[in-house]
Amino acid sequence: MLCGHGTKTGEVVPGKKNHMKVGSWEFIELVQVDSTTSFLKREIMAGKLDLAAVTAGSQTAGRGRLSRKWLSPPGGLYMTVSVSPNDPSKVPVIAHVACAGLAMADALAHVAGIEARLKWPNDLLVKDRKLGGILSEMVSGPRGPRLLIGIGINIESAPSLENAAYQSTSIAREAGTPLPLARDLAKNFLFKLHAWLDLMKKNGYVVIAEHWKALSATIGRNVTVIAGNEKIEGRAMDLTKEFELVVETGQGKVNVGVGDCLHMNHQRRCR
Ligand code: BTN
Repeated sequence: MLCGHGTKTGEVVPGKKNHMKVGSWEFIELVQVDSTTSFLKREIMAGKLDLAAVTAGSQTAGRGRLSRKWLSPPGGLYMTVSVSPNDPSKVPVIAHVACAGLAMADALAHVAGIEARLKWPNDLLVKDRKLGGILSEMVSGPRGPRLLIGIGINIESAPSLENAAYQSTSIAREAGTPLPLARDLAKNFLFKLHAWLDLMKKNGYVVIAEHWKALSATIGRNVTVIAGNEKIEGRAMDLTKEFELVVETGQGKVNVGVGDCLHMNHQRRCR
């Protein structure tokens, strides 16, 4: 197994090696857990952790967006980090999640030489295959509201996705370099996340939207977006500063705030 996780299921492994500080985050490595997001949520609600990053060697009940399962066998990065969101009336929560997408793209380039692009709203793609995804949720802890950003990245293998519209890929498949350790990718991500959040604090979230657009795999593509009961088809033209996708349809422009986005003309799943 690539990462140096400890021994017991869902238990915080004590000692410097598995429980340390990375920047302002407590960095905790678990062997196996139901879901790093569920774990961190419980710990924050119980007042045991606050600003923390939790990784697990595998997850038994990994969760994806839209109530999908996230298959989490050993050999991937499964990580959830909590951040203290800026005043939501000034900075939308989604801007923090966008910082995480940018940070992971940076970390993948740094640690594995991989050029990942961002699919709206929160996927990391390499050549139109899904390398990873992000799931966020808010939790209320004794020290205030915290945003939980959960990220899954395929390192060794590419487990199939419950949403069969996309093929998955892995670092092993895409990188020409030796495989990075999950721990190195996680730590590099945290350093980059800190930098992006800092930039947002200093320069505002519009700057983050601009960077996100520059790395977007969605803008300029023909898309189908499922938003609740609605199906919106057209060309993705832009991203608003509130991170809504602007889709040019036959009936004019539509701004979509949440939804499942499919790029048209991409390689369909064949297994
Ligand atoms: C998606 O559907 O694309 C988002 C997947 C997010 C998976 C990660 S793995 C770490 C964290 N724990 C979970 O249960 N889910 C997220």
